[in-house]
Amino acid sequence: MDAIFSKIEEIAVKIDNLIKTGESGYSDSSNATGDVQLKLDIQSDIIIENEFKNVKSIKSVISEEKEGELELNPNGEFTVCYDPLDGSSIVDFNLSVGSIFGIYKGELCGENLLASAYVVYGPRLEIVKTIKGSNPVLYRYNGSEFAMQKEVKLEQKGKINAPGATQKNWYPRHKALIESIFQEGYRLRYSGGMVPDLHQILLKGGGLFSYPGTVDKPKGKLRALFEVIPFALAFKEAGGEAIDDKGVSLLKFKPNHPHDTTPCFFGSKYEIEKVKEAYSGK
Ligand code: AHG
Ligand code: MN
Ligand code: MN
Repeated sequence: MDAIFSKIEEIAVKIDNLIKTGESGYSDSSNATGDVQLKLDIQSDIIIENEFKNVKSIKSVISEEKEGELELNPNGEFTVCYDPLDGSSIVDFNLSVGSIFGIYKGELCGENLLASAYVVYGPRLEIVKTIKGSNPVLYRYNGSEFAMQKEVKLEQKGKINAPGATQKNWYPRHKALIESIFQEGYRLRYSGGMVPDLHQILLKGGGLFSYPGTVDKPKGKLRALFEVIPFALAFKEAGGEAIDDKGVSLLKFKPNHPHDTTPCFFGSKYEIEKVKEAYSGK
């Protein structure tokens, strides 16, 4: 596991440099979900695959940017599922973006996620690493190494609300939930990048991030293995929770296909209780 985490640090520095100096704009290809890929999406993916090839404990990898599983080391133990560059729609407008990694052992599902990490490419270069059973830990790059900053812990209740998806297509119960949270005095914080949006909630001690199922996309947009389950572990270990629209922990999610998406809600305990009430129809 240590070897994977230290490789992620090397990857973070390389992708940060790529974002700062690489070409902007779209490529001629699209990924497994049908999104048109940016040149940066493709190059970040290549960086990660090349770096992970040298880590013996990694048996295989699955990237958001590729269709299937790629075997790297037949004697390895872990499968790493990753979103090389999350935030394709905002990176060319110079907003913060990220990379997300889930480290699984065995069948690819929430229960088999052993650790996760995400990188934030913002004004600062940061990584949050989470190992199942212990608090997430924040690291910041100081020009030569990632220095540990602190353990990440959520309060019972936060102050910010980050509601994703197209509002016109929200179901009435979701609209009512979001409205009632704003009525309690929560403030809107939504950049369109799940990494900085969730990072802000984690570091400010709480709040709600939601990406619901909608009339046009009943299973939401965010992908379980690469995006949702890795963050679900960080929220749970920070003292919060991450659930789907049935109120079930996203750490119990079993995708049928590696690119499956799921409605998702991440927050501190108080906000997640509100989601459960709103979605249970009580
Ligand atoms: P990606 O760039 O990997 O395709 O994913 C972007 C995601 C996520 O970061 C964000 O929360 C969400 O898309 C934003 O979607 P909306 O614009 O529909 O709110
Ligand atoms: Mn993504
Ligand atoms: Mn992506």
